[in-house]
Amino acid sequence: MGEFDRPGAWSRYNAAQRDRPPHPLAVTLLEHAGEGAGRLALDLGFGGGVETALLLDHGWQVLAIDGDPAAAESLRVRCTTGRLTIVTQDFTDLDVLPELHLVHAAWSLPYAGVHLERLWELLLSALVPGGWLACHLFGVRATADAEDVARLRTADVDRFLDRLDVVHREEQEVDGTSSGRPTHWHVHSVVGRRRA
Ligand SMILES: C[S@@+](CC[C@H](N)C(=O)[O-])C[C@H]1O[C@@H](n2cnc3c(N)ncnc32)[C@H](O)[C@@H]1O
Repeated sequence: MGEFDRPGAWSRYNAAQRDRPPHPLAVTLLEHAGEGAGRLALDLGFGGGVETALLLDHGWQVLAIDGDPAAAESLRVRCTTGRLTIVTQDFTDLDVLPELHLVHAAWSLPYAGVHLERLWELLLSALVPGGWLACHLFGVRATADAEDVARLRTADVDRFLDRLDVVHREEQEVDGTSSGRPTHWHVHSVVGRRRA
């Protein structure tokens, strides 16, 4: 069993994330996507809600989905705007999404496990042509911190990205820790725009 398979593990992780600055990838995403002006963004696996708040601050309407009920409670307190819809759901069960102009999925998609391919198809089909996507995907040498973590060969990452004009792509391998345990991070970070 990986560390995030234990009950409450995501809640504890997410609670510890609430006061950090936004991920640089989200900042890069917004440099490209600009102000939302009411357009709909999805924050998939929103966790501590830092990037959800950033999207709201930039004028986006946000659909925020995460399986952790405590994350939803905390986000409800943090962001009281009517432009936010919070859904507590296992994202591997999603089978319909509204039309999206932006998808932000930071450090969440790998936890779709064997459902990643189907979830990716759903995200890409919901994203309008010209819509923006930023995500992290794990490479094959990433430590599995949950039982069912999707780790992709670089060729599969290439295939995943073939309907996007990629404006930022970085592959990193770093030894570090996750909740105090030794972890090898092998991560692909991507920002791209849905082709017509
Ligand atoms: C590593 S955290 C990332 C959170 C946030 N995006 C960030 O970058 O800090 C992964 C998030 O995905 C959520 N998650 C993991 N598996 C999930 C699933 N199957 N369905 C819904 N949410 C899930 C967890 O609750 C957690 O909030």
